[in-house]
Amino acid sequence: MSLYNQENIDIQEIELNLLLQAVHLKYGYDFSNYSKAHLKRRILHRLNLRDISTISEMQNKILWDKEFYKTFLQDLSINVTEMFRDPVFYQAFRKKVIPDLSTYAHIKIWHAGCSTGEEVYSLAIILKEENLLHKTQIYATDFNKKVLEQAKLGIYSKKEMELYSRNYLESGGKQQLSDYYTSKYGSVIFEQSLAKTIVFADHNLVTDGVFAEVNLVFCRNVLIYFDKTLQNRVLGLFSNSLIKRGFLCLGTKESLRFSAVESNFETIDKEQKIYKKAQLNK
Ligand SMILES: C[S@@+](CC[C@H](N)C(=O)[O-])C[C@H]1O[C@@H](n2cnc3c(N)ncnc32)[C@H](O)[C@@H]1O
Repeated sequence: MSLYNQENIDIQEIELNLLLQAVHLKYGYDFSNYSKAHLKRRILHRLNLRDISTISEMQNKILWDKEFYKTFLQDLSINVTEMFRDPVFYQAFRKKVIPDLSTYAHIKIWHAGCSTGEEVYSLAIILKEENLLHKTQIYATDFNKKVLEQAKLGIYSKKEMELYSRNYLESGGKQQLSDYYTSKYGSVIFEQSLAKTIVFADHNLVTDGVFAEVNLVFCRNVLIYFDKTLQNRVLGLFSNSLIKRGFLCLGTKESLRFSAVESNFETIDKEQKIYKKAQLNK
């Protein structure tokens, strides 16, 4: 049972900082600029599940037990995703981003924090319907190797397809979602023509660099887990990766407002968090 109460909450804070340092030193992952509220929630959840009494005790397990460390890593990387998540966003994307993208001879996209891939296959389907997929290269990245493996396979549970089909149609889909996959037993596999335009790669937004000269950066529901300092670092990466007049799409709870790169962008859709890199800035 957890030992924490109101009187020793300051100890919990110290232990949390020490744990993050230990993980960084031992495994090279730096979580020090993740939102503290998010970290605490996830760590305390694991603590209660495993009947561990303090974060210090958990630190010991993380350092000495590799399997436990892997569980801890999965705990911190929330991978919840779905196809055509927020259909209204995709409607806006089709209307306000696609016409501009279609003017380029070649399109390069960086999809950061792609999780198990549902969102990147959604994007590929839209590009196919708009006859742009053949001239597009998508780099889909995440720091979690386990989800990248799933994303590469493009295999999902058939149970999810009811919701995804609804999302797809609401988002302005031009066919049926089932036109893009084959069902086998309880699973579906998305067609090869979608996957072959996508390069899945390991990339950590905390430590890794830019993708040069991209027309579009897609990074939805990732910045919410970061503190202001890390958000600014990552938004700086996106700004430096984009060509002039390139687009940036964030999640509905995320924004460029008050960020260090706000003035580099114009707002294309305030509600759907679609931005365009201004002509004059770098
Ligand atoms: C909630 S999911 C969002 C998935 C998808 N973009 C969506 O909106 O449906 C957040 C993703 O961000 C990834 N992530 C978290 N920290 C990261 C980092 N430092 N570098 C790269 N990806 C990260 C997680 O592994 C996870 O797959």
